[in-house]
Amino acid sequence: MSANLLTLLPTLTTPRLTLRKLAMSDLNDFFEHGADPEVARFTLWEPPQNLAQARKHLTNYMRDSGDRHAPTWGIVLNEENKLIGTCGFHHISPYAQNAEIGYTLTKAYWGRGLATEAVRAALDFGFKQAKLQQVTARTTPENTASARVLKKLGFRQTGSMLEYVPISQQMQRLDIYQLDYFL
Ligand SMILES: CC(C)(COP(=O)(O)OP(=O)(O)OC[C@H]1O[C@@H](n2cnc3c(N)ncnc32)[C@H](O)[C@@H]1OP(=O)(O)O)[C@@H](O)C(=O)NCCC(=O)NCCS
Repeated sequence: MSANLLTLLPTLTTPRLTLRKLAMSDLNDFFEHGADPEVARFTLWEPPQNLAQARKHLTNYMRDSGDRHAPTWGIVLNEENKLIGTCGFHHISPYAQNAEIGYTLTKAYWGRGLATEAVRAALDFGFKQAKLQQVTARTTPENTASARVLKKLGFRQTGSMLEYVPISQQMQRLDIYQLDYFL
Protein backbone atom coordinates (compact mmCIF):
# COMPACT_ATOMS: atom_id res chain seq x y z
CA MET A 1 0.00 0.00 0.00
CA SER A 2 1.18 3.52 -0.64
CA ALA A 3 0.72 4.26 3.06
CA ASN A 4 2.89 7.31 2.91
CA LEU A 5 0.49 8.74 0.33
CA LEU A 6 -2.11 8.96 3.11
CA THR A 7 0.31 10.89 5.28
CA LEU A 8 1.06 13.36 2.50
CA LEU A 9 -2.50 14.65 2.82
CA PRO A 10 -2.79 16.05 -0.68
CA THR A 11 -5.47 18.70 -1.11
CA LEU A 12 -8.77 17.18 -2.24
CA THR A 13 -11.63 19.17 -3.70
CA THR A 14 -15.35 18.46 -3.91
CA PRO A 15 -18.15 20.71 -5.23
CA ARG A 16 -18.49 22.53 -1.88
CA LEU A 17 -15.40 21.62 0.10
CA THR A 18 -11.64 21.58 0.18
CA LEU A 19 -9.85 18.98 2.29
CA ARG A 20 -6.38 20.26 3.10
CA LYS A 21 -3.68 20.10 5.74
CA LEU A 22 -4.53 21.78 9.03
CA ALA A 23 -2.60 24.95 9.82
CA MET A 24 -2.13 27.11 12.93
CA SER A 25 -4.13 29.81 11.11
CA ASP A 26 -7.17 27.49 11.59
CA LEU A 27 -6.96 27.89 15.37
CA ASN A 28 -10.10 30.00 15.93
CA ASP A 29 -12.30 27.83 13.70
CA PHE A 30 -10.75 24.69 15.18
CA PHE A 31 -11.58 25.91 18.69
CA GLU A 32 -15.18 26.74 17.71
CA HIS A 33 -15.52 23.25 16.25
CA GLY A 34 -13.84 21.23 18.99
CA ALA A 35 -15.14 23.06 22.04
CA ASP A 36 -18.77 22.24 21.29
CA PRO A 37 -19.75 19.42 23.68
CA GLU A 38 -22.26 18.15 21.11
CA VAL A 39 -19.44 17.61 18.62
CA ALA A 40 -17.02 16.22 21.23
CA ARG A 41 -19.69 13.91 22.65
CA PHE A 42 -19.14 11.26 20.01
CA THR A 43 -15.38 11.67 19.72
CA LEU A 44 -12.51 10.56 21.94
CA TRP A 45 -11.32 14.05 22.83
CA GLU A 46 -11.89 16.27 25.82
CA PRO A 47 -13.41 19.52 24.49
CA PRO A 48 -10.83 22.33 24.78
CA GLN A 49 -11.82 24.93 27.38
CA ASN A 50 -9.79 27.76 25.88
CA LEU A 51 -7.65 28.73 22.93
CA ALA A 52 -4.47 27.48 24.57
CA GLN A 53 -5.92 23.98 24.92
CA ALA A 54 -7.25 24.10 21.37
CA ARG A 55 -3.77 25.08 20.17
CA LYS A 56 -2.38 21.97 21.89
CA HIS A 57 -4.99 19.75 20.18
CA LEU A 58 -4.31 21.37 16.82
CA THR A 59 -0.55 20.95 17.25
CA ASN A 60 -1.08 17.26 18.04
CA TYR A 61 -3.20 16.81 14.93
CA MET A 62 -0.55 18.49 12.81
CA ARG A 63 2.24 16.41 14.39
CA ASP A 64 0.31 13.13 14.11
CA SER A 65 -0.09 13.73 10.41
CA GLY A 66 3.65 14.07 10.10
CA ASP A 67 4.56 10.88 11.92
CA ARG A 68 2.03 8.72 10.04
CA HIS A 69 -0.03 8.11 13.11
CA ALA A 70 -3.28 9.74 12.12
CA PRO A 71 -3.18 11.86 8.98
CA THR A 72 -6.08 14.28 9.27
CA TRP A 73 -7.38 16.80 6.78
CA GLY A 74 -9.07 20.04 7.72
CA ILE A 75 -12.44 20.40 5.97
CA VAL A 76 -12.92 23.89 4.54
CA LEU A 77 -16.26 25.19 3.28
CA ASN A 78 -15.34 26.92 0.04
CA GLU A 79 -18.07 29.58 0.03
CA GLU A 80 -16.99 30.84 3.48
CA ASN A 81 -13.31 29.86 3.29
CA LYS A 82 -13.76 28.53 6.80
CA LEU A 83 -12.56 25.38 8.56
CA ILE A 84 -15.72 23.47 9.48
CA GLY A 85 -14.37 20.07 10.46
CA THR A 86 -11.79 17.32 10.22
CA CYS A 87 -11.58 14.00 8.45
CA GLY A 88 -8.74 11.51 8.55
CA PHE A 89 -7.41 8.00 8.77
CA HIS A 90 -5.92 6.22 11.77
CA HIS A 91 -4.95 2.66 12.73
CA ILE A 92 -3.36 2.45 9.31
CA SER A 93 -2.06 -1.01 8.49
CA PRO A 94 0.09 -1.08 5.36
CA TYR A 95 0.30 -4.88 5.66
CA ALA A 96 -3.45 -5.43 5.75
CA GLN A 97 -4.08 -2.44 3.49
CA ASN A 98 -6.74 -1.12 5.79
CA ALA A 99 -7.36 1.89 7.96
CA GLU A 100 -10.06 3.39 10.13
CA ILE A 101 -11.75 6.65 9.17
CA GLY A 102 -12.98 9.40 11.48
CA TYR A 103 -14.71 12.72 10.83
CA THR A 104 -16.35 15.62 12.62
CA LEU A 105 -18.16 18.77 11.57
CA THR A 106 -18.97 22.02 13.36
CA LYS A 107 -22.60 21.80 14.47
CA ALA A 108 -23.82 24.82 12.51
CA TYR A 109 -23.05 22.89 9.31
CA TRP A 110 -24.73 19.59 10.13
CA GLY A 111 -27.56 18.24 7.98
CA ARG A 112 -26.40 19.57 4.61
CA GLY A 113 -24.69 16.44 3.34
CA LEU A 114 -21.27 17.98 3.93
CA ALA A 115 -19.80 15.14 6.03
CA THR A 116 -20.88 12.61 3.41
CA GLU A 117 -19.26 14.77 0.71
CA ALA A 118 -16.00 15.08 2.65
CA VAL A 119 -15.75 11.43 3.66
CA ARG A 120 -16.53 10.33 0.09
CA ALA A 121 -13.52 12.34 -1.14
CA ALA A 122 -11.25 10.87 1.56
CA LEU A 123 -12.39 7.33 0.73
CA ASP A 124 -11.91 7.89 -2.97
CA PHE A 125 -8.35 8.99 -2.30
CA GLY A 126 -7.72 6.17 0.18
CA PHE A 127 -8.94 3.44 -2.14
CA LYS A 128 -7.81 4.69 -5.54
CA GLN A 129 -4.54 6.50 -4.74
CA ALA A 130 -3.32 5.03 -1.44
CA LYS A 131 -4.51 1.56 -2.48
CA LEU A 132 -6.41 0.73 0.68
CA GLN A 133 -8.58 -2.34 0.29
CA GLN A 134 -10.72 -1.90 3.36
CA VAL A 135 -11.80 1.02 5.53
CA THR A 136 -13.50 0.57 8.89
CA ALA A 137 -15.30 2.97 11.20
CA ARG A 138 -16.62 2.78 14.74
CA THR A 139 -19.55 4.73 16.15
CA THR A 140 -21.63 4.61 19.29
CA PRO A 141 -25.09 3.15 18.61
CA GLU A 142 -26.70 6.49 19.56
CA ASN A 143 -24.80 8.32 16.84
CA THR A 144 -27.48 7.94 14.20
CA ALA A 145 -26.12 10.75 12.03
CA SER A 146 -22.73 9.10 11.77
CA ALA A 147 -24.24 5.68 11.07
CA ARG A 148 -26.33 7.27 8.32
CA VAL A 149 -23.24 8.89 6.76
CA LEU A 150 -21.53 5.49 6.69
CA LYS A 151 -24.53 3.70 5.22
CA LYS A 152 -24.97 6.36 2.52
CA LEU A 153 -21.35 5.68 1.53
CA GLY A 154 -21.89 1.92 1.29
CA PHE A 155 -20.50 0.76 4.64
CA ARG A 156 -22.17 -2.21 6.30
CA GLN A 157 -22.22 -2.94 10.00
CA THR A 158 -20.15 -6.03 10.72
CA GLY A 159 -20.47 -6.19 14.48
CA SER A 160 -20.00 -4.30 17.69
CA MET A 161 -17.49 -4.29 20.51
CA LEU A 162 -17.02 -3.07 24.04
CA GLU A 163 -14.14 -0.67 24.44
CA TYR A 164 -12.77 1.31 27.35
CA VAL A 165 -13.13 5.00 26.56
CA PRO A 166 -10.65 7.05 28.61
CA ILE A 167 -12.65 10.27 28.42
CA SER A 168 -15.86 8.79 29.82
CA GLN A 169 -13.79 6.36 31.94
CA GLN A 170 -16.09 3.50 31.15
CA MET A 171 -16.63 0.63 28.80
CA GLN A 172 -18.74 1.68 25.86
CA ARG A 173 -20.38 -0.25 23.05
CA LEU A 174 -19.16 0.71 19.62
CA ASP A 175 -20.69 -0.45 16.34
CA ILE A 176 -18.16 -1.49 13.72
CA TYR A 177 -18.67 -0.65 10.05
CA GLN A 178 -16.68 -1.82 7.06
CA LEU A 179 -16.31 -0.87 3.41
CA ASP A 180 -14.27 -3.04 1.04
CA TYR A 181 -12.81 -1.94 -2.24
CA PHE A 182 -12.74 -4.44 -5.06
CA LEU A 183 -10.57 -3.58 -8.04
C1 LIG B 1 -21.69 12.73 12.18
C2 LIG B 1 -21.57 14.09 11.50
C3 LIG B 1 -20.16 14.25 10.98
C4 LIG B 1 -22.58 14.13 10.35
O1 LIG B 1 -22.39 15.35 9.65
P1 LIG B 1 -23.48 15.90 8.58
O2 LIG B 1 -22.80 16.82 7.66
O3 LIG B 1 -24.66 16.39 9.30
O4 LIG B 1 -23.83 14.55 7.80
P2 LIG B 1 -24.68 14.45 6.45
O5 LIG B 1 -25.56 15.65 6.33
O6 LIG B 1 -23.72 14.15 5.36
O7 LIG B 1 -25.55 13.14 6.72
C5 LIG B 1 -26.22 12.99 7.95
C6 LIG B 1 -27.38 12.04 7.77
O8 LIG B 1 -27.84 11.63 9.05
C7 LIG B 1 -29.23 11.94 9.18
N1 LIG B 1 -29.44 12.27 10.58
C8 LIG B 1 -28.93 13.31 11.28
N2 LIG B 1 -29.37 13.25 12.56
C9 LIG B 1 -30.15 12.17 12.65
C10 LIG B 1 -30.90 11.58 13.70
N3 LIG B 1 -30.90 12.10 14.94
N4 LIG B 1 -31.61 10.45 13.44
C11 LIG B 1 -31.61 9.90 12.21
N5 LIG B 1 -30.91 10.42 11.16
C12 LIG B 1 -30.21 11.52 11.39
C13 LIG B 1 -29.42 13.11 8.24
O9 LIG B 1 -30.80 13.24 7.90
C14 LIG B 1 -28.56 12.67 7.07
O10 LIG B 1 -29.17 11.62 6.32
P3 LIG B 1 -29.95 11.93 4.92
O11 LIG B 1 -28.93 12.54 4.00
O12 LIG B 1 -30.41 10.60 4.50
O13 LIG B 1 -31.05 12.89 5.25
C15 LIG B 1 -21.88 15.25 12.50
O14 LIG B 1 -23.14 15.01 13.06
C16 LIG B 1 -20.85 15.38 13.61
O15 LIG B 1 -19.83 16.02 13.45
N6 LIG B 1 -21.15 14.78 14.79
C17 LIG B 1 -20.24 14.85 15.95
C18 LIG B 1 -18.92 14.12 15.70
C19 LIG B 1 -19.16 12.69 15.26
O16 LIG B 1 -20.11 12.04 15.67
N7 LIG B 1 -18.27 12.17 14.41
C20 LIG B 1 -18.34 10.80 13.96
C21 LIG B 1 -17.74 9.92 15.00
S1 LIG B 1 -17.92 8.20 14.54
